[in-house]
Amino acid sequence: MSSRNQDTVAQRAGTVRVLGTGGTIAGTAPVGAPDNAYKAGQLAVEELLRPLLPDLGGRIHQVQALQVAQLDSRNMGHAVWQRLAAELQAGQDDPTVVGQVVTHGTDTLEETAVFLQGVLRGTKPVVLTAAMRPATSNQADGPKNLRQALHLAADPAAQGLWMAFGGQAWPAAQVRKVHPFALEAFGGGDGPPGALWDRGVWVWLPPTDERAAPESAPWPDTSLAPMGPVAMPSDVEHWPRVEIVHSHAGADGRLLQTLLADASVQGVVVSATGNGSMHDALHQVLQQAVAQGRLQREQVLVATRCTRGWVVGTPEHGWPVAARLTPAQARVALMLRLAAASPRA
Ligand code: SIN
Repeated sequence: MSSRNQDTVAQRAGTVRVLGTGGTIAGTAPVGAPDNAYKAGQLAVEELLRPLLPDLGGRIHQVQALQVAQLDSRNMGHAVWQRLAAELQAGQDDPTVVGQVVTHGTDTLEETAVFLQGVLRGTKPVVLTAAMRPATSNQADGPKNLRQALHLAADPAAQGLWMAFGGQAWPAAQVRKVHPFALEAFGGGDGPPGALWDRGVWVWLPPTDERAAPESAPWPDTSLAPMGPVAMPSDVEHWPRVEIVHSHAGADGRLLQTLLADASVQGVVVSATGNGSMHDALHQVLQQAVAQGRLQREQVLVATRCTRGWVVGTPEHGWPVAARLTPAQARVALMLRLAAASPRA
């Protein structure tokens, strides 16, 4: 599959690989049915690309499509992540490839982003994109998002992991889904986007304290970055098992005790209230688990369940916090961190 446009040969001209995993961007609804009657993950990634190719323009000389999975991302799993990471790494290592795009469902995109941020090597852009309306909708946002993602993947200023969605480019591991059905479904946890799409080009925004260099997408929380690229065990069954418990009114710690009674659970994320606080009942069960040698403090990570913002400072309970990550992202970050610390990895 190749684009016809040979006009502009810039520094990063070359092949962009597009890896499909499914999602609403590849979803279809039966003729005449409402948009919400659609099924995610129906169209092959080639079919999503075909209408875009004739006038892609710019630096993209060739587009290679690869179907890695075809699923609704609520069913995303570690085996698909493993395959996706291996394919992306092959693209990172291929000198003819200038950048890569991943089409993904919106529901777990933020988790995949943290995983890829933790395991990929190289600085070439990898751009995640998605859609909130199926491909058959007259409001379909996928084609525009995919076009913008392709351009970002070939943008000489872009490095590392990004998400292109709705005319904004975000460091991918900082995004979170904040709305279940609105077209503007993603936010950056109060962090700003790195670039805006303006009439056919990406315009990079000035650096901020939040994002020192606009063109690079760093690990979202430096306190989580001992890591560099983590080598995960080749058998996904050996990936550290990390579970999430919610702190909520009436929490009594029994669910947490049940989890800790299962020796296969290696890490616990607490989906915490407010600025990382948790119900005393959960704190006590965790303390007891440490006192009994069942857990080390590093096997616990606290993330706020608030939709916006992040945990500032160290909460009174003193457990490690995943300042900028959602609880679902913190689960992935803790899994990576435990794998990095494990001799098996
Ligand atoms: C999915 O996450 O695969 C379905 C929902 C979406 O992509 O918006």
